[in-house]
Amino acid sequence: MITKIIQIADHTSPYLEICGAALRDGELVAFPTETVYGLGANGLDEKAVKEIFKVKGRPQDNPLILHISSRKELEPLVENISEEAEKIMDIFWPGPLTILFKKSKLVPDLITAGLDTVAIRMPENLIARNLIRYAEVPIAAPSANKSGRPSPTMALHVYDDLNGQVEYIIDGGKTGIGLESTVLDLTTSRPTILRPGGITFEQLQALLKNLTIDKGILSTDANIVPKSPGQKYKHYAPKGEMFLFVGDRDKVNETIKEEIEKYQKLGKRIGLMVKEEDVHLFKSAIVKSMGSSDEEVGQNLFGILREFDNMGVDVILSQVVDNSGIGFAVINRMMKASGGKIVQV
Ligand code: TXA
Ligand code: MG
Repeated sequence: MITKIIQIADHTSPYLEICGAALRDGELVAFPTETVYGLGANGLDEKAVKEIFKVKGRPQDNPLILHISSRKELEPLVENISEEAEKIMDIFWPGPLTILFKKSKLVPDLITAGLDTVAIRMPENLIARNLIRYAEVPIAAPSANKSGRPSPTMALHVYDDLNGQVEYIIDGGKTGIGLESTVLDLTTSRPTILRPGGITFEQLQALLKNLTIDKGILSTDANIVPKSPGQKYKHYAPKGEMFLFVGDRDKVNETIKEEIEKYQKLGKRIGLMVKEEDVHLFKSAIVKSMGSSDEEVGQNLFGILREFDNMGVDVILSQVVDNSGIGFAVINRMMKASGGKIVQV
């Protein structure tokens, strides 16, 4: 298969109708959302959905998110919609929030990996929404990376992972948030965050007083299994070994300098991820700016990890961000990328 990359200026592009029809007909189409690029397939077509698992190399027990373009598309996919869910959707949809509902019979078991809940999201990105609207079916879409690689935030990342395996890649530029959606379970007695993401804990807690966070995503204890199957896999793993440096800023930078010397003596290629304002402090490694704000770090993280892979970096030394707001999702991804290797200074 020759993958066609379609550069589109905006959501009014006539190509979206063509790609929407291709999706409906069972082809795979990668497309931008406000979080990361998605690998789309007709969510009601088992053959197309199977292809997603195959192309990504995704474990069969990891369920997929169904993407919709308007609220009326939700009803046929779910058993019921609680008042709580209505309230949350009113405020956060369209947007980077995936909500779990009890699934209806219409949803193939392959999508939910046999679970009785289905994850649904209405993206904010208008290219994504128009594409889904033209497809006229719910679109199953995991992140458009090979399983285990960092999620794609640019069409080029999708191309690197999936060239020759998807019909179209819609290039809509760099994604805005750069981290995946928050996954929120509203089917249990307490609303629970199964994956931190674009909508923050604080934003949700303001509306859901008894909001909690799945223990599996906070713990490094392998015996505590996350409720969201995707969270149990080693994700976002760069090829180089990654370490996170936590503590006082000056001490962190001093320690990183010492580590650079150590690894250089061993002949290692070192990649450094630091805040924009600290870039000038380091000369003797491949230094990448994560940006200044936590939002910028979120936008840049996956792309930098991919750049390090392309450069054959052996060791990645990284600063961290505060664990609040979007920082919670950033830290979650950094923990996964590093396999939890923290250096407390
Ligand atoms: O931002 C996003 O959510 C992106 C864009 C493309 O929309 N999609 C995405 O999909 O990140 P994926 O497949 O890479 O991650 C979906 C996560 C996985 O961790 C999966 O285990 C979880 O959602 N999930 C899906 N259905 C679930 C269910 N019924 N119960 C628990 N977790 C579920
Ligand atoms: Mg993913």
